[in-house]
Amino acid sequence: MVKNSDTPSAPTPPPVAASPLPQSPAVAARFAALHARPVILEAEHLTCEFDSERGRVTALRDINVRIHRREIVCVIGPSGCGKSTFARVIAGLQPVSAGQILVDGQPVTAPGPDRGMVFQGYTLFPWLTLAQNVRFGLDMQGRAENTADAEARQWLDLVGLGKFADSFPHQLSGGMKQRVAIARALAAGPKILLMDEPFGALDPNTRAQMQTHLMEIWRNVDITIVFITHDMDEAILLADRILVLKAHPGEVLEFLEVPVPRPRSLAQFNTPEFQATRRHLDALIHPAPSAHDPDHAPLPIIRLTQSGDDVE
Ligand SMILES: Nc1ncnc2c1ncn2[C@@H]1O[C@H](COP(=O)(O)OP(=O)(O)OP(=O)(O)O)[C@@H](O)[C@H]1O
Ligand SMILES: [Mg+2]
Repeated sequence: MVKNSDTPSAPTPPPVAASPLPQSPAVAARFAALHARPVILEAEHLTCEFDSERGRVTALRDINVRIHRREIVCVIGPSGCGKSTFARVIAGLQPVSAGQILVDGQPVTAPGPDRGMVFQGYTLFPWLTLAQNVRFGLDMQGRAENTADAEARQWLDLVGLGKFADSFPHQLSGGMKQRVAIARALAAGPKILLMDEPFGALDPNTRAQMQTHLMEIWRNVDITIVFITHDMDEAILLADRILVLKAHPGEVLEFLEVPVPRPRSLAQFNTPEFQATRRHLDALIHPAPSAHDPDHAPLPIIRLTQSGDDVE
C-alpha cells in the first residue's frame, strides 16, 4: 500500500528537520505539495556493515529517509560515506545488516523492475544497436515482438537519439551512450531511477547538457530519481532535496530542501538562492578543521629530492 508522509500513525517520524535556508512563498508552496505526495521510497533504520581486512566497516548507520513520488533526491558526501552502498541497497543488490528499504510500502529483498539503475561506466552491449540495447529491458519483460521495437525507438526519441536507433555504441560520444543507458533503464518502466555518478566521466560541457537533458526527461516521465554525485553544483541544479551524508560511519547530516525555484537552468548558478545553498553545503561538508582532527593534521613531509635544491 502507498504510504503518505502525513499519516499520523507512521512508525518512524521523518528524522531530519526542514530546510534551514530561507524559501520564497512559491518554493515553500512547492515543498508543501511535494510532502503531500505519496512516499514511494523509504529507508527505515537502515544499517549496512561490511567485514573487511581492516575489521568491520559501517557503511551506513541508522538511515531514516522518506522520498516522495516524482521527487529528485541527490545524495552527496565524502568518498566512502556510503552513497553507492545506499543505491545498491535500494536496488536490492546489497543485503542490509539492520532496518529496511520500502518501495511503495513493500520491503526490498531483491532487484526488481520497479527500480532501474544507471552507473558511471558505460554499460551498453557493444554488439547490439541502440534500439536493440533499449529493447533488451523490454524483451526481459516479455514484451511482444511487434511492439517492443517501436517502444524502444520511442524511448530513444525521448532522449533525443531517435535518428541513431540503428547505430552501434562505438559510434557514439560518452554523453550519447549515457542517454541510451537512461533510455534503456526507463524502458523497463521503473518507478525509481537510481543513478550513481552517471555523468562523472563526462567533460564539463557534455555534463551540463546531460543535466539539462535529465531534467527534461524527468518533466516528461513519471519517475522518482535518486541521483548520487560528488558535484555540489550538480546536486543543487537537479535536486528537490539533497541528502547529505558523513563518512565513517555513513550517517545523515542533513536532508536539505533546495530553495532554488523550478524550472531550473544553468543560468541560476549565480542567483542568491543557489549561492546560499552552495555556501551552506560547503560548510556542512567541509567544516573548519579542528586542531585535534587527525584527518586535517599536517602531513609528515618526507624528502625525496637528492640535490637539496629548494624550489621556494
Ligand atoms: N563490498 C564491500 N566490502 C567491504 N567494504 C565495503 C564494500 N563496499 C563498500 N565498502 C566500504 O563501505 C564504505 C562505503 O562505501 P561506498 O562505496 O558506498 O562509498 P561511496 O560514498 O560511494 O564512495 P565514493 O564517493 O568513493 O564512490 C567504504 O568504507 C567502503 O570501503
Ligand atoms: Mg560510490
